[in-house]
Amino acid sequence: MKTLTSTPNKLPLVELHKEPDGSVSKAAFAKDVEAGLSKKNKTLSSRYFYDSRGSQLFQDIMALPEYYLTRSEFEVLTDQKEAIAAEVAAEGFFHLIDLGAGDALKTKILLRELHKQKQQFDYVPVDISGHAMQELTERLHHELPDVPVQAVVGEYIQALEWLQEHKSERKVVLFLGSNIGNFTSDESMAFLKIVRSYLGSGDKLLMGMDLRKDPNTILDAYDDKTGVTAAFNLNLLRRINEELGGNFDLNCFSHYATYDPQAGVMRSYLVSRKRQEVWIEAIGKMFSFTAWETIHTENSHKYSLEQAQEMGKATNFSIETVFLDKNQYFADILFAVK
Ligand code: TRP
Repeated sequence: MKTLTSTPNKLPLVELHKEPDGSVSKAAFAKDVEAGLSKKNKTLSSRYFYDSRGSQLFQDIMALPEYYLTRSEFEVLTDQKEAIAAEVAAEGFFHLIDLGAGDALKTKILLRELHKQKQQFDYVPVDISGHAMQELTERLHHELPDVPVQAVVGEYIQALEWLQEHKSERKVVLFLGSNIGNFTSDESMAFLKIVRSYLGSGDKLLMGMDLRKDPNTILDAYDDKTGVTAAFNLNLLRRINEELGGNFDLNCFSHYATYDPQAGVMRSYLVSRKRQEVWIEAIGKMFSFTAWETIHTENSHKYSLEQAQEMGKATNFSIETVFLDKNQYFADILFAVK
């Protein structure tokens, strides 16, 4: 499964993922959609949001005035880059492993600072999109030619497993954005335990966590006035139509977002505005919706700092430093392995 491809003009990528460019196989997509729409409480997985139109819409979400998450984390990284870089680099050479690197817009702030501080490291961006990793490698080659880059195309865990070949070398794992929040509580604990199992003493994890705040501020971020978030959520149905031969009428579904301030969970749904039936060719089945029946599409957890500490404790990490923006909306938390 491990192949090192090195074609002329292209920089070497380690490819652990078999599907081209982050796409999922049609069969796996169809199977997940069938399972989700057959449940009593229908669901569709948020992992299918990001086809090319979905990724574009998410870019638009990040530019919305209501969507504070991206801007807050940018502020954290920009305002505190000196301290963050010095702390992660404290103990000599390390691999900087960026889970879900994408275009690495946020990570580049740290890369530039680490380079400026003359820290010894190499950069290992990990992403499911081969295209994104190829582009990032080439761009970094021009922008930061002195920083060694080894991109890995694959799932997070696959990449960490691959890195076991470099067991003795220090590792700093980045899990930026608020991806941890999209896992269920059980999933996030399991994920942190797996990451921890691949790390040793002196290794670190810098993780983004969206914090609890005025519930209205959170709700607005997932239900903007201009309808970009609605289009993003509905794009899931458009993608099923396009890739699986579905006949969802997008005008007959709407976006609904609700925040549970006690659980600290933002929940997003698609609502069937009438009784209707939808045929999906690739599944060969008709799915029935009653009026106002919902499809759950994503949870986004918001954390208190106490919760972050508990999550660390339960998974054998200790919090070294909490980096916050001025509003205290978002935290990049540096977890250390004791
Ligand atoms: N995963 C992102 C988040 O939780 C994506 C997102 C933003 C999203 N707005 C959304 C997912 C609305 C579903 C519905 O912030």
